[in-house]
Amino acid sequence: MLKHVAIIMDGNGRWAKARHLPRVAGHKKGAESAKAAIESCIKHKIQYLTLYAFSSENWGRPEDEVKDLMNLLRFYLDSELKNLHKNNVRLRFVGDTAKLEKDIQDKITAAEKLTENNTALTACIALSYGSRQEITNAIKAVAKAINDGTLKINELDEDTLSNYLYTKNIPDPDLLIRTGGDQRLSNFLLWQSAYTELYFTECFWPEFTEAEFTKAVEAFHSRERRFGQTSVKEAI
Ligand code: FPP
Repeated sequence: MLKHVAIIMDGNGRWAKARHLPRVAGHKKGAESAKAAIESCIKHKIQYLTLYAFSSENWGRPEDEVKDLMNLLRFYLDSELKNLHKNNVRLRFVGDTAKLEKDIQDKITAAEKLTENNTALTACIALSYGSRQEITNAIKAVAKAINDGTLKINELDEDTLSNYLYTKNIPDPDLLIRTGGDQRLSNFLLWQSAYTELYFTECFWPEFTEAEFTKAVEAFHSRERRFGQTSVKEAI
């Protein structure tokens, strides 16, 4: 079953460059694709969507580009919130959000609060997100809990550790899409993607339409997921 799709939205810059446009034009068009992906998930009755909007490594981009991305984020948090809420979308933000500017942190908290009981789709936006940092922080918190005596070392299992991650209570992704032609995970959901189906496409993110989304969903359904077990066909 396809319950959770995660997306690495890559290729905004190259899409813009090919059109002799500034990179920010690619990010703007990319934000529209993100809106379309939310709509596609609702249509396909997919319950969770996680979008890699800004990685912990993205802080190292030129100051102007970081500013442009943050301004886009502000714009969409203001302009889309009502509509998302009306469409019964729950918003969640994962990552080191304490690094974001205070006004953005406030908007995020308000958006999560407003939409917390919505049920059509959980749209999870990864901001200032890095998987290794997430796992490191989880291990620190586990060590502290063991030290404080609130967790016994023998009680620590995979589910317990998962509860210390930013993605607590979000099921692991079934399908991870990366646009833009590169075939790597770039520090995205490393723990959570242990058995995730990976789908890579040359399509740049600003051109990732509903038809492209449907292609990825169809590819997912054509695969047999064995989770390390024997194929059902081979077993009989
Ligand atoms: C990768 O393309 C994309 C990003 C770093 C940001 C993704 C952002 C959006 C889709 C806009 C919505 C997000 C926010 C924060 C409002 P790239 O710039 O790495 O493309 P390139 O590899 O072609 O240079």
